Formats: sequence, C-alpha cells, structure tokens
Amino acid sequence: MPTLFSQPESSLNSFAPRLLDWFAENGRHDLPWQQHQTDTPNPYIVWLSEVMLQQTQVTTVLPYFARFMTSFPTVQDLAAAEWDTVAEHWAGLGYYARARNLHKGAKQLVEVIDETGEFPQTLAGWEAISGVGPSTAGAIMAMGLHHYGVICDGNVKRVLTRWAAIDGDITKSATTKDLWVLAERLTPTESSGLFAQAMMDMGATLCTRSKPACLLCPLKEDCLAHAQGRETDYPVKAKKQPKPSKFSNALLITDTNGNILWLQRPDNGIWGGLWSLPLQFVEKVDGKTNNKATVKKTLANDDKLSNMPNDVRSNEKVYEAEFTTAEQIINEWLIKNKLVAKSVSNTLLDDAPIKHSLTHFHWYLTPRKLTIDATQVTELNQKLAAAEMEFKWLTEQKAQDSLGLPRAMVKILE
Ligand code: ADE
Repeated sequence: MPTLFSQPESSLNSFAPRLLDWFAENGRHDLPWQQHQTDTPNPYIVWLSEVMLQQTQVTTVLPYFARFMTSFPTVQDLAAAEWDTVAEHWAGLGYYARARNLHKGAKQLVEVIDETGEFPQTLAGWEAISGVGPSTAGAIMAMGLHHYGVICDGNVKRVLTRWAAIDGDITKSATTKDLWVLAERLTPTESSGLFAQAMMDMGATLCTRSKPACLLCPLKEDCLAHAQGRETDYPVKAKKQPKPSKFSNALLITDTNGNILWLQRPDNGIWGGLWSLPLQFVEKVDGKTNNKATVKKTLANDDKLSNMPNDVRSNEKVYEAEFTTAEQIINEWLIKNKLVAKSVSNTLLDDAPIKHSLTHFHWYLTPRKLTIDATQVTELNQKLAAAEMEFKWLTEQKAQDSLGLPRAMVKILE
C-alpha cells in the first residue's frame, strides 16, 4: 500500500473527513474573522486577522481586531490612514514590523484593486503583498476567497509532525518541504477553507504544545506520536540559543510643566515608526555565556556620562548601532551641559529595571528622570529641529492617549 511519511493511504484519505466532522461538532465557529459560514467571504478580514494572529493568541487579538475593523472597515480606509493612527491602533500587540507591513500591504492591495477591480485572486498575487508568506497566502486563498489554498503554519506543523511522527528539525528547510507535501496531500480540494480553519482550531485547542488533549482528538487512532506516548517530543526544533541581554536607560526628560520629551523612532529597527522615550544604551551581555567579559558598554552609568565621548570613540560600531540620530543629539547635549539623569528610585529600585523580552534579546530598561528649565528646552528643541528629528513634548497621560507607544514604554510609565 502506498504511504506518505509512514501513514497508509487509508489514513491519509480519512484525515480530512475526520477533522471536518470534529470541527463541525466541536470547533469554534464564532470568531469574528471566520468566513466559513458565508457565501461572500471578505479577504480583507482574513488578511487582517491572519497578520494579527501571526505569533499572537486569539484572545489577545480579539480587541485589537475589533478596533481595527471599527476604525478601518475596508482596506481603502486602512491604506488612507496616517501611519501614526495605524501605529496607535497596533500599540501593545508587538512585532511591529507586522504593523508596518500591514499599512504598506493595504496600499499595495488598493493599487491591485484599482487596476483589476478586485483583491488578488492567486497565491502569487497574495505572496507579493508585504508581510504575506506562503501559509498566510494559502489561508487567504482558502478562507478569504473560498478558492483552493493550503496552510502550513506553526499549528499545522505541530499536528502533522505528531500524526506522522516526522522527526526532522522543523527549522530546517528539508523538513518544511516535507510538511508542505503532507499538508497538500491532506487538504481536500473542495473545502480547503473549512479544512484550514479546522486545522488551526485543532492545533490551538486540542493538539497544544505542552498538554495535548489526545482523548478528544479525531486523529488519535492513527497518530504515530500518540501510539508511542511521545506527543510532546514533536515537533523537533533545534534548541534556541539563549537570548542576549541589553541594558538601557529610558530618559524621562521633563520640562517644568510636566511635559516629557518623546521621539519618533526611525522606520527601520526596533519599534520603527513608534514613539518612545529617548534611550541610552548601556551594555549588552551575550546570552550564550552570560559572561560579563563579553559585555559591550558605551555608557556605564551616570558617573561615566561625562566620559562618554571617549567610550564612544573606542566603541564606535556599538554606538552607531544602538543610538538613533536623535538620541545621539540628546546624549551629546546632556554631556556638553553636564546634565545627569537620576534613576527614578522612588518608584523603582535602581537595580530592578523593567524587563522586556523581544524576539532577539531581553531588554532591561531603567527609567531615569531629568527636569530641565525653559532655556534648556529651547536649546534642545533647536538641536533636534535642526536635524529634522520628529519629537513632541507631552504629559504622560497625553502620550498614552495620543501616541502609538510600545508596550515597554507603557510599562515604564506605569
Ligand atoms: N491562528 C491563526 N489563524 C487563525 C484563525 N483564523 N483562527 C484561529 N486561530 C488562528
């Protein structure tokens, strides 16, 4: 009998019907972006929700999705919105490159619609949109257009590596290729949208990462990992390198009226396009060794602030990589004026900064407060304006209400 990855033809054939029966009985059918119960699916809704659901849980996405749909009910509304408005709607959802791609993608989609009269109708058409990879494109084809589409995201990979006991490292392209072959073989031509939704649901609710609910699973009879009691050994994933740690000061530069200086971060890099307090990079610790010998420092601490130009010169690369132009201007101005930012030790212990974990590093941010007088404000403003930097002086409350602040900034203010 022909097999594919140790599963016989009979199992391969009955996979979809079993999954779809389970989904009809026990799946979620009331998520606001689901389009399987309508004859006129809306690809905008599926595209938007899929981008939000990349690396983010359904419960986290729900209120964000609702706000996006209220403010930007169509792709044209999203494309026409100012970036600041989009950023403010996204603030707190993390992985901000997704928001930039979403805004760019909306503009690309409107161009396609203006040219052809409709959303892209092919897999290649969707893959050409910023931020849309092969699985998201498959999901949109299947669920957003009711055309044929195959998905193979993290949830699907977990289900399939378990069911077929595929023990290749899923971060390797050879394994990914195998998994796509299997996903394509299992996806029914007629109801690929329903199948995609059912697979996502299975992965999210039954075949979970650490405690799969195998007793309730429609695939348990022939799940090869289950047969060996080795569900949680799959998927096999190369052990991640421990993340390095980075330490920075977050400057609360305040005028005498309680307005704080905010900078808009450059489009590339961390929190691109969002607003943040000026940051002072302090040091970086290699995650592998956690050895202080591998620390790179630019600004050691307040006492060393006045020595910074020397530090910086001996560490030019780090300095360039870690400081935005506006932050360099501010740092140089602080040093020139012999101004020292004090740690906000009445609200936070000096050695207990805020920890914020990002994809590639843990970031420890220590808030430091510095009040400057009106003359100093004017001087600093002139320097920033001369370099065409985007900045604002706003109270804590106004900043929270009107700027797209990353989660870490909200944590600092709190
Ligand atoms: N994860 C990614 N896409 C999803 C969807 N459409 N429904 C539920 N979870 C998801």
